[in-house]
Amino acid sequence: MLSMTMIFAKSNRFLVSSVSAVIISAAMITGAEAANIATTYNESCAACHDSGALNAIKKGDSVKWQQLIKQKGMSALISSVKNGMIQMPAGGLCEACSNDDYRKLIEYMSK
Ligand code: HEC
Repeated sequence: MLSMTMIFAKSNRFLVSSVSAVIISAAMITGAEAANIATTYNESCAACHDSGALNAIKKGDSVKWQQLIKQKGMSALISSVKNGMIQMPAGGLCEACSNDDYRKLIEYMSK
């Protein structure tokens, strides 16, 4: 009986420590992503949205961006990037981006 309790206590402690390891690594990924929006923008979107190449709306043209966000809605804009448009390649050159990343990138450009 005593040994059963010890085994349980041991495995329970193992479970607790692996759960906290998962929580810590998830927090690190989230933190890294937030800091990386500017980098992702520079690597994926800036080629067109910095200069306005191919008539892309420029980063920082907040009047135009706010108008577009109001007109189409954020989820439609995210779909546009994912599916591509006339000139914009599908995914906007960011293969690893999630919907949430696209939302953050659009908000980043609209400021
Ligand atoms: C190769 C150039 C290019 C790249 C790279 C690019 N875009 Fe675009 N984007 C465009 C152009 C051009 C338009 C205007 C629509 C069109 O003609 O395709 C546009 C339009 C958009 C729109 C408006 C969509 C709509 O429904 O009106 C959003 C939002 C957007 N881009 C986000 C992004 C994001 C986010 C990235 C980076 C992950 C990105 N773009 C990368 C060229 C680009």
